[in-house]
Amino acid sequence: MKKLVVAIDGPAGAGKSTVAQLAAKSLGYTYIDTGAMYRAVAWKTLQQNQEVTDELIVDIVSDISVVLEYKGGKTFVYVDGKDVSGEIRTPEVTGIVSQVAALRPVREKLVELQRNMATQGGVIMDGRDIATNVLPNADIKLFLTASIAERAQRRYDEMKAKGYDVDMDQLKKDIAARDKADSEREISPLVQAEDAELIDTSDMSIDEVVQAILDRCR
Ligand code: DC
Repeated sequence: MKKLVVAIDGPAGAGKSTVAQLAAKSLGYTYIDTGAMYRAVAWKTLQQNQEVTDELIVDIVSDISVVLEYKGGKTFVYVDGKDVSGEIRTPEVTGIVSQVAALRPVREKLVELQRNMATQGGVIMDGRDIATNVLPNADIKLFLTASIAERAQRRYDEMKAKGYDVDMDQLKKDIAARDKADSEREISPLVQAEDAELIDTSDMSIDEVVQAILDRCR
């Protein structure tokens, strides 16, 4: 069977990475979490212990190695050879990642890496601009979304499970702010591609969304 290229876009907390990983595992495909790559650049920026400016971020991205590895159904992220898979998920990284992702030099470098990772097919890539910009010729294009309340609840459960003390109202505000920043930025904003199919996951279980993806691939 032909090895497909599947592009999944959507806002933060829509459940993209959870369902994309499960679908990839079921199909024997590679899963590529492009958000993790933007987080990797944000993480390295924070390591400098300096004021976070656009200049600093651009300087960091000019000399960074970001490698994604998908093994055993999990994504590992390496920055300059160091495994930062856990450290890129902190609230501090989340707090600056939209600023990082809005910068052209950052996007140019990461998009090139992302395209190279998809050349063999057999990949599910998720992000914000995959169908519109990174892989416009993808075989399957999906746009996953859910209500802000539902997305906040999912992030809440995720952060709680990791031991973070989280405030629901703050979480909703943060998600709305990140939606706005990601949708209104000048370069490759978050938009549904004209030829992408919209799936609202608000009232769907994880299994139902995975099944919906697999149905489109078969
Ligand atoms: O999916 P995530 O929360 O890990 O993404 C982190 C940030 O990176 C998010 O604010 C949007 C940005 N991003 C992007 O601009 N383009 C992508 N293809 C993936 C993520």
